Amino acid sequence: MAPMIKSLSAAGRFLEVSWEGMDQPVLYPALWLRDHCHAPHSMNQETNQRSVDTFAIPTDIELETVSLDHDKVTVHWRAEDPASEYPVSFLWKMSDRKTQAETHEKAHWAAADLKGALPEEDWAAVMAEDNNGLKSWMEKIDLHGFALVKGVPATPEATQDVLRRIGYIRETIFGGFWDFTANLAFADTAYSNVEIGPHTDGTYSIDSPGYQAFHCLEFDGTGGESIFVDGFKVAEDLRQSDPEAFETLTQVMVPAQYRGDGAHLMAEHPVIGLDRQGNLKKITYNNYDRAPFRLENDLQDRFYRAIGLFHEMINDRAYQLRFGLRPGTVVLFDNWRVLHAREAYQGHRRLCGAYHNKEDFLSTLRLLRE
Ligand SMILES: [Fe+2]
Repeated sequence: MAPMIKSLSAAGRFLEVSWEGMDQPVLYPALWLRDHCHAPHSMNQETNQRSVDTFAIPTDIELETVSLDHDKVTVHWRAEDPASEYPVSFLWKMSDRKTQAETHEKAHWAAADLKGALPEEDWAAVMAEDNNGLKSWMEKIDLHGFALVKGVPATPEATQDVLRRIGYIRETIFGGFWDFTANLAFADTAYSNVEIGPHTDGTYSIDSPGYQAFHCLEFDGTGGESIFVDGFKVAEDLRQSDPEAFETLTQVMVPAQYRGDGAHLMAEHPVIGLDRQGNLKKITYNNYDRAPFRLENDLQDRFYRAIGLFHEMINDRAYQLRFGLRPGTVVLFDNWRVLHAREAYQGHRRLCGAYHNKEDFLSTLRLLRE
């Protein structure tokens, strides 16, 4: 809810708004205001797309008068006929130039924080038409970087039905929804039963998969515990304990590649990706898939020292949340935040799963929050 407007005035090239609870008035420039007019003559009311010709607006446009009527602000322009309209909520949302990006709280965790209390939701609730269970599950994934669904029928069909609640499944060179027992069908260690260290998937992809889901449909064997590490927790701890190593991992672009199965994918990302405010945005780490590259000798040394520290931390049991994936439990995790790993196992295991794009998960969650 937007706060109340205490007063507003047309001050030539600016609209000046004093908001309840703010010391300083907010100045909205006239050209920007005209460009963001919400009236039907300037914004398509069906699609919410801009229809005003931005580049035909006189750059020296000035306000004549302004008025407030309930939740709507109307501006009359000095040299133009149609008045412009703005929802108060829009002007409030745009009152701070810095915070246009969505920020939602993240709960960083080490293993002990979640052991025995894994974030989870019930299958029937997630599938229910009221969307409450779906929203609750997705909020937990957004907060912790992963969450389980318990009580899912152990079939590929039921698993896909759960995953499609979030959005369509991403196609990759491996296909879309996958379902396999241990074999070496592809040139990738994930398709075997050996131990796999903590990593994120798709480091060689320009748009690495945003989320990944697993469902173990059949298990008859020993070992094979899944391991999850909160990369944000590790990165934040590294920022405190070794700022130089942290900075190196935010700055060095690490190339990765996938060669095989008729593809040669390449991309480069820093291990620790930040947004422009310095907040953690994306962890990209898979030492198996790192492509050959060289740096200046000094930086090369610093890079090896920094990924050595990162490697040590993600392999520290204090950061590794471990649990066995068993039939009936779907786990979905944020592949831009949580690293996953697997112990070696003996026996028979059938696993299915899929990727979602980052944007599609966030789109569904945004709609559920509205
Ligand atoms: Fe993986």
